[in-house]
Amino acid sequence: MKAIILCAGEGTRLRPLTHTGAKHLIPVANKPVVHYVIEDLIEAGIKEIGVIVSPNVENAFKRDLKDGSQWGISIEYIMQTEPKGLAHAASCAREFVGDDPFVMTLGDNLLEQGMVQYIEKFRQGNVNAMLLLYEVDDPTSFGVAKLDGERIIQLVEKPKDPPSNLAIVGVYMFDKHIFEAIGKIKPSWRGELEITDAMQQLIDDGYMVAPATVQGWWNDVGQPNDMLEANRQLLEKLATCLDGDVDEATIIRGRVWVHKDAVVKNSELRGPLIIGPEARIENSFIGPFSSVGQGCVIEDSEVEYSILMEGCTVQGVKRVDHSLIGRNVKVGYKTTLPKAYRLVLGDNSHIELI
Ligand code: G1P
Repeated sequence: MKAIILCAGEGTRLRPLTHTGAKHLIPVANKPVVHYVIEDLIEAGIKEIGVIVSPNVENAFKRDLKDGSQWGISIEYIMQTEPKGLAHAASCAREFVGDDPFVMTLGDNLLEQGMVQYIEKFRQGNVNAMLLLYEVDDPTSFGVAKLDGERIIQLVEKPKDPPSNLAIVGVYMFDKHIFEAIGKIKPSWRGELEITDAMQQLIDDGYMVAPATVQGWWNDVGQPNDMLEANRQLLEKLATCLDGDVDEATIIRGRVWVHKDAVVKNSELRGPLIIGPEARIENSFIGPFSSVGQGCVIEDSEVEYSILMEGCTVQGVKRVDHSLIGRNVKVGYKTTLPKAYRLVLGDNSHIELI
């Protein structure tokens, strides 16, 4: 069975990070989001993956995922030139998947328990499609399913008045009939061909669309808060590893993962947290749920519940909390007059000052 991963979305809610990179390549617990998706598919026995990209992010994905040989699988790239919706993205992969059943996942959906159990259920189920459901408090920003027992009777995309609180998770399994259904649907109010509408079309045409309920947590990381929450959820599962150069003056509490090429001096590390290769932490406090990327330098500072991507420098800053910081960012303390904030910020940056 092949899989396609949809990675063409623009990630507007994660600007400015998505001005210079794809949201699916933002690291959580020091690993790009889409790597978790790929590894979950591999765990389910999938060895051929098509990654759907837009022209803006194509090169970034090719640089990071290459041909898949780092995982012993094959990765092909499929272009979606215009953002015309998830069903349109699926139809771009028509040739890649051929006539066989396939898995389609969104590159930003993380599942605590991976995908093995659902893909197995689909393989054994003799159904035309399977979708995953998750109970949420406010389903208005998702696709929503209405069930009658184990049978889906209605699927609706981002309803103002949801027929249930069962959100559609971005992991689907289809046989070739989905392409027929996509051919019949019209663009939605947001101008996109919705995969939710295509599945409704399957139901209307008498095909069998089965639901599966997600066990454990599900997170679709569309906004900074979701990224930080996914970071927390993944760090909760982290093992302890203290391979790095950690001096005697440093206090370690809880589960802490320090890469062998990282240096920590005279600091407190209060886990769960992860420190990447070539990072240097000095006279600092790193609090729970922090991921410090490769080559970051943190001196005389406090950092908690944050993601610092590669090459960041944080110096003399009293407390960085609840923050998502892109590559090579410098956050420092100004010692000279005038006593004022000095900011060099990219478009769509957001900062909160105290
Ligand atoms: C998409 C789907 C929606 C689904 C969601 C899951 O929404 O259209 O049905 O519930 O992914 O992440 P979008 O990310 O396009 O807003």
